[in-house]
Amino acid sequence: MTEPSPSTKITTLLRLVLPIFREHWLRLGCGFLALIVVDFLQLIIPRFVKTAVDALSTGAATSSQLLELSGAVCLVAVIVALLRFIWRYLIIGFSRILEKKLRDRLFTHVLRMDPPFFERWTTGDLMAHASNDLNAIQMACGMGLVASVDALVMSSAALVFMLAISVKLTLIALLPMPLLIICTRILSGRLHHRFNLVQEQFSLLTEFARATLVSIRLIKGYTLERFQEQRFHALGEQYVRSNLKVAAIQGLLFPIATLIGNIAMLLLLYYGGALVIESQISIGSFVAFVSYLYMLIWPMMAIGWVANLAQRGVTSLRRIHRLLSEQPTVSTGVALAAPPVAPTVYSCRSLTFAYGASVRPVLSGMDLEIGPGLMGMTGRTGSGKSTLCKLLLRMYPVADGMLYFRGQDVNQLSQDQLRQCIAYVGQESVLFADTIANNIAFGRPEATAAEIEAAAQAAAIDADIQTFTGGYQAIIGERGVKLSGGQRQRLALARALLCDRPMLVIDDALSAIDVETEHQVLQGILATLQGKTVLLVSHRVNVLRHCDRIVLLDAGRIVEQGRHQELLANPFYQAMVEKQQNDA
Ligand SMILES: Nc1ncnc2c1ncn2[C@@H]1O[C@H](COP(=O)(O)OP(=O)(O)OP(=O)(O)O)[C@@H](O)[C@H]1O
Ligand SMILES: [Mg+2]
Repeated sequence: MTEPSPSTKITTLLRLVLPIFREHWLRLGCGFLALIVVDFLQLIIPRFVKTAVDALSTGAATSSQLLELSGAVCLVAVIVALLRFIWRYLIIGFSRILEKKLRDRLFTHVLRMDPPFFERWTTGDLMAHASNDLNAIQMACGMGLVASVDALVMSSAALVFMLAISVKLTLIALLPMPLLIICTRILSGRLHHRFNLVQEQFSLLTEFARATLVSIRLIKGYTLERFQEQRFHALGEQYVRSNLKVAAIQGLLFPIATLIGNIAMLLLLYYGGALVIESQISIGSFVAFVSYLYMLIWPMMAIGWVANLAQRGVTSLRRIHRLLSEQPTVSTGVALAAPPVAPTVYSCRSLTFAYGASVRPVLSGMDLEIGPGLMGMTGRTGSGKSTLCKLLLRMYPVADGMLYFRGQDVNQLSQDQLRQCIAYVGQESVLFADTIANNIAFGRPEATAAEIEAAAQAAAIDADIQTFTGGYQAIIGERGVKLSGGQRQRLALARALLCDRPMLVIDDALSAIDVETEHQVLQGILATLQGKTVLLVSHRVNVLRHCDRIVLLDAGRIVEQGRHQELLANPFYQAMVEKQQNDA
C-alpha cells in the first residue's frame, strides 16, 4: 500500500468524521459523562479507606462504622461497574457506527468508479483500506478517545488529591513518570509497526490460499502441488515469526510499566514513610496516597499509547481521504427526459483513443456508423475491437466531438441512461456461484421464469439446462466451473438477451460454440432483436457472413467495410476464410 502525502490539512481530514460525531452527540455526551463519573467514583474509594485506616490507627474505629464504610465501598463499586458497562456500550458502539458509515461511503464511492480507477488501485489495496485503515480509525475514535479523556480526568484528579495530601511527596512520586511515558510511547510504536506486519503477512497468506484454490486446476495440470505447499509453509512460518515478535513486545510493555510503577512506590515508601514517622501525614493519608499513585500509572501509560493510536488514525484517515478524492475520468452529462431517438445508434467521427497516459493510440481516426441491424466486426488480435466495445459502454473517457449516441455527443449524455440502452456480453463470461436462473436474471431480477426460459431458448442453452439436475435451479459453482466454456458463453448471452435493450454488443462471446449451435444462437439473436442494433465481434466467418455489414479493423484503423462477398477482396479476410474452410 502506498503512503499518502502528508500535505492534506488535518482539518480537511477531520471533516470526514466530525459530522458523524455531531450526529451522535447525545450518545457520546452520555457515554463520556458516565466515563467521568466512573473516574470520580474510583477516586472516592481511597477516601473511604483513609477514613477507615485513620480510625483503626487511632483506635477510634467501631464495627458499625467499618460496616458502613465497607458498605459504601461496595455500593460505589456496583455503580462503577454499571456505568462502565454504559460508557463502553455507548462510546465503543459509536466507534463501530462510525466505522460502518465510513465503510459504506467507501463502498459507494468505489462502485461509482470507472475501469481506469481499477487499473490504478488493486483489489488488495482496496481491501486493505476497507479493513486495516477503517480499523485504525475506529480504534482512534473509540478506545483512543476514551483513553485520552480517561487519562486526562484520572491523572488530573489523582494529582489534585495527591497534592492535597502532600506537595513534596507528590513531586517525589512523579519523578519516574516521564520514563514511563517515554517507554510506552516507544514500545507501543514498535508494537503497532509489528502488528501491521502481522496483518500484512496474514493477508499475503490468505491471498495465496485464495489464489491457489481459484487456480487449482492449473496447479494440478502443471503438478505444482508440492511447490505451492512449500510456499504456503514458508508464508505460514513468516507469519508465526512476526506474531512472536508482537508477543515479545507485549511481554515487555507491562513488566516495564510495573517496574517503573514500583520504583515510584519505593520512593514513596522511603520518603512517605519518613513523613508518617514525623507525623506530618496520617497513616490513612499515606495509604490513600499509595492508591492514588496506582491510579496514576495507567494514565501515564495511556499517554504514550494514545499518541500512537492518534498517529495511526490520522495516517489511515489520510489514505481514506485520498481514495475518496478520486474522481471518475469518464464525464457524464444530464439525464434527458426522453432518450434521443435516431436510426443510427452510434457515430464515431475521427475517433482516436489511447489508454491512460499512453501516447500510443489503440484506435485512430475511426469513422463509423453503427445501427440499425446486425454489424459484424473482425480483425487481428489486439486491433482494438474490445476497446471500441468498451468505449461504446462509456468505460473509458473519450474526447468531445468523437463519439455520438443518436446524434448527441456522449459526453453530454447521462452515463446511466446510455448504458441502459445497451446489453453487453464481454469476451470473458462473468458468472456467479448461484442458480442458473439467477445468473440469467442478473440484469433484470424481476424477470419471470417464463421470460428467463425464453431468453435461454434464444441463446440455445435451454436444452443443456434441461439435462442438469435441478434444471434452472442448478447451482453452477464458483465462476460457473460446472459448465463447459460454450455453456458459460451462452448463459452470458441469455442474460443480455433477457435485458431486452435497443442495442446488443457481443464481444467475441460465441468463440467456444460449435458450428451447429452457433447457427441456432444466431437465429435466436436475429429473432429476438428485430429492428434493434447488434454489434457482433467475431473471428468466425460462419458468424460474420450473416451480418448486414462487416467492419475489418487493423491496428486501430478501419481497413475495409462491406458485406461478406465484398470483403473477400481483402487479403486478410480472404486468408481467414480459406483457413477456416480448410479446417472445416
Ligand atoms: N486496460 C488497458 N490498458 C492499456 N492497454 C490496453 C488495455 N486494454 C487493452 N489494451 C491494449 O489495447 C490494444 C487493443 O486491445 P483490444 O482488447 O481492444 O484488442 P482486440 O481487438 O479486442 O483483441 P482480441 O481479438 O485479442 O480480443 C492491445 O494492444 C492491448 O494491449
Ligand atoms: Mg477483444
